Amino acid sequence: MPKQSYYIVALPGDGIGPEVLSCALDVLSTAGQLFRIDFQVEEIPCGGHYYAEHETEWPEGSFEKCEKADAILLGAVGHEVDGKTVFTKPGKPYPEPQLAGFAQVILNRQKLGLYANVRPVKLYPGVKHKIHGVLKQVWDADKVDYVVIRENTEDAYTGETNSIPDGQVTPIRITRTATERVVRYAFNLARRRGKQHKVTCVDKSNIIGAHRFFRDVFREVGGREFPDIKLDYAYVDAFCQWQIRNPEWYDVVVGPNLVGDIISDNGATTAGGLGLAAGGNIGDEHAMFEPIHGSAPKHAGKDKANPMAAILAVQMMLDWLGTRHEDSRLHRAAQQVEAAVAALLSEGKTLTYDLIGEEQAARCSEVGAAVEEKLRAMA
Ligand code: IPM
Ligand code: MN
Repeated sequence: MPKQSYYIVALPGDGIGPEVLSCALDVLSTAGQLFRIDFQVEEIPCGGHYYAEHETEWPEGSFEKCEKADAILLGAVGHEVDGKTVFTKPGKPYPEPQLAGFAQVILNRQKLGLYANVRPVKLYPGVKHKIHGVLKQVWDADKVDYVVIRENTEDAYTGETNSIPDGQVTPIRITRTATERVVRYAFNLARRRGKQHKVTCVDKSNIIGAHRFFRDVFREVGGREFPDIKLDYAYVDAFCQWQIRNPEWYDVVVGPNLVGDIISDNGATTAGGLGLAAGGNIGDEHAMFEPIHGSAPKHAGKDKANPMAAILAVQMMLDWLGTRHEDSRLHRAAQQVEAAVAALLSEGKTLTYDLIGEEQAARCSEVGAAVEEKLRAMA
């Protein structure tokens, strides 16, 4: 059932997070006006800079707000002081030091049950990419269009590191429960996409026992529950070259957490770079959307970063909310936001430095405003 109002928690975070998220929230509000959808947005300060001042990563009660939200939008976390990443102090609030901002990214993923991290690798027409530092068009847009599904709650992301006499050990934890639900998500997505009806399992099962388990569960669930979907396999090292050489082979790709982290960034290089790559952390009850790039401290505060990844994160959020609440207004809004971004990309004029070079670059805020203008013109 469509809701009267959708409650969105926005976590701008660190570095370029606030700038790109501010553009994305403007686009959300314009879409709300145009499609008559009420969004109640609450921004919560958080991340490493917040930790550096308060010794806590966000104000008390913030997690409860995330739990109540219809959806969460995250900018980026990761703060530097004197060129060094800020980690939490032992025992404050975790036993072991963690990236300050851990709660917003990792704990939200784990505690809200956001088990599938959905990261489309999709090249829009007109987008050039940097090979040898020169902007060139090399791939055909229709040949780069697959989705990476990254397991999002375990693997090497447990937050646990133990000392041993000669060093430290971080466990790789792979459970049946988490693997079954994420591979099921991937198979269902391959069905919904209706393209190649294929899911590729990417792992390092030739050497890591826990990855062998991941692959076994993938094979078992796929064979038993999805006879209409083809099962495909790749080791992650080989996959990294195939996703560059032969992206058209892939439809839906699923892998353990760290594998998914790496191959989604690598895939982004074939689709215009991290400035265009968005992702959704999706569970059965909650979801959090984010640009997959980091906080890029060196670009922070310069109104320079590409806001399109954050805007496409809004598009993914609208789409997810539309399906969850059977609200066609949200689906229309999602389509139009994507179309607005695609139109700007194919015109190739109002773009940030990463897509057009420093000389002709538009500011982050100018690109955000141009997306809003396109949206209004199309409505
Ligand atoms: C991502 C990021 C995070 C991750 C970091 C910031 C903890 O790289 O969302 O891909 O590794 O998951
Ligand atoms: Mn990453």
